[in-house]
Amino acid sequence: MTYSRIIGTGGYLPEEVVTNADLERMVDTSDAWIRERTGIRERRRAAKGQSTCDLAEAAARSALTAAGLEAADIDLIILATSTPDHIFPSTASKLQERLGGSDYPAFDIQAVCSGFIYGLDIADRYLRTGGARRALVIGAETFTRIVDWTDRGTCILFGDGAGAVIVEQSEEPGILSSLLRADGRYRELLWVPAGVAEGEQRERAYVEMKGNEVFKWAVNNLSRIVDQALESSGLTRADIDWLVPHQANIRILAATARKLGMPMEKVVVTVDRHGNTSAASVPLALDEAVRDGRIKRGDLVLLEAFGGGFTWGATLLRY
Ligand code: ACO
Repeated sequence: MTYSRIIGTGGYLPEEVVTNADLERMVDTSDAWIRERTGIRERRRAAKGQSTCDLAEAAARSALTAAGLEAADIDLIILATSTPDHIFPSTASKLQERLGGSDYPAFDIQAVCSGFIYGLDIADRYLRTGGARRALVIGAETFTRIVDWTDRGTCILFGDGAGAVIVEQSEEPGILSSLLRADGRYRELLWVPAGVAEGEQRERAYVEMKGNEVFKWAVNNLSRIVDQALESSGLTRADIDWLVPHQANIRILAATARKLGMPMEKVVVTVDRHGNTSAASVPLALDEAVRDGRIKRGDLVLLEAFGGGFTWGATLLRY
């Protein structure tokens, strides 16, 4: 039986730090409110001219180095983003060209903050069925470009960044269980209501969100999918060594951990320094915990995310 296994992680954060004090000068908010309601202290913002592909390339090269591989060793690229460089072609095909590759599949997927979990699931299926041997899976975002910097309800939340993993065919598991969900009935609770369907370019292409409703929904549904992922692999909550959740809000992370009976010491938290980097948030958090030695080979790691759509998902893996 062939499985897939992560053999290297990488990440990249742009240089510019936007602190809560910076936001106090832009909108009617306070450092105390942002920290208390979200847990965020600062986030990164891509430089003018720096694109999602630039961030993705840096994260991809860092993951390749961690895996001890060259770009030529990859035969599949899956890039999750809601902030692609262009409507088309895909940012993945642009990245493939930059990495000097061709003659293998490279495509973007769009599942907003769940995008990386979706991408990992697709890569796992390619590898297990022999469609590819080594996949580069990336979550990369320049989300601050689709944020209305006059809307205090959203602009305080988001940041830019990219995280990547290399996943390889393996005789040892690897990814044990992967579940994806979507429910389009909730799409207008969190969306950017601009695009091709509008028939013309709109000047405003910004995130709109009913934060409170998204919050409640996330807390109520995340622990359920985690339990389903555990059940399908015959494991229990007590077996999990590390929870690597989507970094939307520290209160959502804490509430989910509480529902799962996990102490916060087992939860990887980056939201305080990264904000919500959408599809990049889970791979960036994973990379941080692998690099600082918290996540070790053999640990049972649970990744979970939710985002616009709504979409949500969970991956249970042996690192
Ligand atoms: N500074 C100060 N006050 C603010 C701010 C701010 N930045 N933002 C909102 N407020 C005010 C509101 O106007 C409201 O004032 P009122 O009571 O006078 O009307 C009050 O604070 C409370 O507002 P709520 O929206 O009820 O605050 P809440 O505690 O829900 O926190 C937040 C808001 C942080 C947005 C929270 O709801 C949240 O994190 N929601 C989930 C967000 C999320 O996870 N999004 C998913 C992203 S994933 C993806 O796919 C992109």
